[in-house]
Amino acid sequence: MIVADHISKYFNCIEAVRDVSFRVGEGETMVLLGTSGCGKTTTLKMLNRLIEATSGRVEILGKNIAGEKPELLRRSIGYVSQNNGLFPHFTVAENIAVVPKLLGWKAADIRQQTRRLLEQLKLPSDSPEKYPAELSGGQQQRVAIARALIADPPVLLLDEPFGALDPVTRASVRGDFAELPALKQKTIVLVTHDVQEALEMGDHIGLMDQGSIVQWGTAGDLLFRPVNEFVRSFFDEQRFLLELKIIPLRQIIHLLPASKRTYQHYLTTDRNLWDALEMLSAHQLDEVTVRDADGRARSLTLADIQRFYNQAKQQHNG
Ligand SMILES: Nc1ncnc2c1ncn2[C@@H]1O[C@H](COP(=O)(O)OP(=O)(O)OP(=O)(O)O)[C@@H](O)[C@H]1O
Ligand SMILES: [Mg+2]
Repeated sequence: MIVADHISKYFNCIEAVRDVSFRVGEGETMVLLGTSGCGKTTTLKMLNRLIEATSGRVEILGKNIAGEKPELLRRSIGYVSQNNGLFPHFTVAENIAVVPKLLGWKAADIRQQTRRLLEQLKLPSDSPEKYPAELSGGQQQRVAIARALIADPPVLLLDEPFGALDPVTRASVRGDFAELPALKQKTIVLVTHDVQEALEMGDHIGLMDQGSIVQWGTAGDLLFRPVNEFVRSFFDEQRFLLELKIIPLRQIIHLLPASKRTYQHYLTTDRNLWDALEMLSAHQLDEVTVRDADGRARSLTLADIQRFYNQAKQQHNG
């Protein structure tokens, strides 16, 4: 779906991106992760020709983008820029309608689709008439996401779409975003410096440093098999939390005994070992109940969590 083949970018003499290559398959989410200034935005913008690569090639949907008109290319790729990029003198409705109008949609269709998306993204019903400055930062980011999604492009490029938000709002906007039905089949490249966000959302993650991808792989690859000290230390601060978070209860439920008691608090199998640990400590429990897909209850103790965690580490290292 997306192929970046040895792309580099020089700004005058400064090499902002050096020899970056990756592939994103249909329906996959790839995350570009890294500290400020490492070249994430530059890499992303080379995919829709907001920045022209100095060398290398990019293919989208099997076509070399160098041969396509930038304006046409950008109509088929949804894009949320780092600072949301809304036009301040356009209302929310006008902002969202930019691409549909270029595509010649009927006004009634644009209105209907806009209303549906704003609803899905939990924006108030009076927001279409408002100007961006009359909305909160989180609402503005939801509008930017709606604008990127309205024409239903198969590819989405998102540059820190949940940035500039406090952690609580960030998690809630991210949750609403992840649940959007329109999102399921999209091929997404997401830029973030938030490690948890990267691990939660990325099928594959490229960790960048000084213009290069240092390591490319799944969350498990980066956490358990770092290629060098930089990758190891990048995750060290939150290592234990992250490692527990990437082990879903679904993976271990069949190993748990049936629960004898019924509990008020329980977890579903889409949650992870970290959630279980949090629930144990928040309610000072000896065990938590995990419900499988058929509603049967199984019991999980702190000793189990430790055991599964150690097993996962050994498996990855072996
Ligand atoms: N138009 C430009 N002209 C000159 N240098 C630039 C330009 N755009 C970016 N750079 C430089 O290229 C490097 C990479 O910038 P980029 O915006 O890609 O970083 P980033 O990883 O997105 O950072 P952040 O997390 O802060 O957004 C930086 O050193 C930056 O100063
Ligand atoms: Mg950036």
